[in-house]
Amino acid sequence: MFDRVRNVDGGRAAVYAEGGTGWSGVRGKRVLVTGGTRGLGEQIVRLLSAEGARVATCARTARDLEELTASLDTETFTRPLDVTSPGSLEDFVVATAKRFGGLDGVVACAGGSRGGGIEQAAPDDWAATWEVNVGHAARLVRAAVPHLRAAGGGSVVVISSISGWKPGPPAQYGVAKSAQIHLAASLARELGPDNIRVNAVSPGSMLIPGRRWDRMRREDPEAFAHFVAAELPGGGPVAPQEVARVVAFLLSDWSSGISGAHLPVDRAQNAPSPDGY
Ligand SMILES: NC(=O)c1ccc[n+]([C@@H]2O[C@H](COP(=O)([O-])OP(=O)(O)OC[C@H]3O[C@@H](n4cnc5c(N)ncnc54)[C@H](OP(=O)(O)O)[C@@H]3O)[C@@H](O)[C@H]2O)c1
Repeated sequence: MFDRVRNVDGGRAAVYAEGGTGWSGVRGKRVLVTGGTRGLGEQIVRLLSAEGARVATCARTARDLEELTASLDTETFTRPLDVTSPGSLEDFVVATAKRFGGLDGVVACAGGSRGGGIEQAAPDDWAATWEVNVGHAARLVRAAVPHLRAAGGGSVVVISSISGWKPGPPAQYGVAKSAQIHLAASLARELGPDNIRVNAVSPGSMLIPGRRWDRMRREDPEAFAHFVAAELPGGGPVAPQEVARVVAFLLSDWSSGISGAHLPVDRAQNAPSPDGY
């Protein structure tokens, strides 16, 4: 059953499978999603759960994980951890495969940026931004491969960004997101013989309640309207639910022919921010 909810921009309707759609694409799939308590990761976890997948997720804040599991009808395996902390993510992958009796897919969704522009960002900020985006994704795949191979194959989705292919500051973020696209394409070739597909998804500026674009919309509606008019030919930012559906498709066997691909989900957005290219 489709539950049509209004996107937070009040305009277009984003189809979101609140109660499941009856689609069998990910039913029974065993999937680990990093960074599943907020934003895009939360929507991926909710959609996969609603569609009958068995889902594991992690984030640093234990309370958020507890609130997430309490709000879901289905069992979700969670663990508070920092994906950049050596060994923690790898242990969680092993624990998830043990808990679910195997693993069919992983989604590297945790990510973000630290530091400002080129004169403000310290070398540590570059290293931290690299690690939370690229380093964690590579370690996630490395830990998951034996389990995906044992399952006869699987699907990996790396969440990149419009900033990974349409340049805009801060550079340390765009560079890391760009590397994630290359990582997915490269691993797709390396892991293809094991029937493991690897793809990158690049969301545009997502309208997430309380986050940057939502705040800008409320606090500086004129600047937001200018941003939309200049950079968003589709009339507004994408909702995280719309991106989550593409991720679910890539995890499903319906996308069996897709590997090494880079899928933008940005409704033809131009520049990644009001700062332009
Ligand atoms: N927001 C956008 O408009 C946008 C656009 C394009 C691409 N993206 C990409 O989409 C992904 C999700 O972005 P978002 O904005 O939806 O994220 P978000 O709202 O900032 O949420 C990030 C999630 O990851 C977790 N997380 C962050 N750092 C972590 C760490 N070191 N270890 C473990 N968990 C961590 C957070 O929980 P804790 O804080 O509790 O750890 C939270 O669950 C990111 O890769 C981002 O680069 C976002």
